[in-house]
Amino acid sequence: MSELPPLLLGRLNHVGIACPSIDAAVAMYGRLFGATLSTPAFDLPAQGVRVAFIDVANSQLELIEPLGADSPIHGFLKKNPSGGQHHVCFEVKDIIAARDAMRERGATVLGTGEPRMGAHGVPVIFVHPRDTGGVLVELMQEPEGAH
Ligand code: CO
Repeated sequence: MSELPPLLLGRLNHVGIACPSIDAAVAMYGRLFGATLSTPAFDLPAQGVRVAFIDVANSQLELIEPLGADSPIHGFLKKNPSGGQHHVCFEVKDIIAARDAMRERGATVLGTGEPRMGAHGVPVIFVHPRDTGGVLVELMQEPEGAH
């Protein structure tokens, strides 16, 4: 058995929050916290979601609403009709190495396992919450020159 290399979690890039309406969520964050969007809403068809970002001091909130009938967050919103915390996203140095390490360590990578283009324009994978204490974990390639 090969020795597994350490795979440290990088920066917390964002917390994903599913909502039935980005507009309504933005209005709430503005009214309660004085927050505004740092990235206006845009469609991300590859992930079946519409996305917008709110910057916080050390990270971001990623607001996601369903895009299309096959959106993967319809099920979540059925269980959580007013929305809720959906995933956390950590940066990794190498998304392919991270994917392979997750599998080698016995965790399930969602979908085909091929990294998909995420909202930040870098490849991402998702790790099944049954392997991660109930928290859907997104791993994202650290954006070049970001930090
Ligand atoms: Co995300």
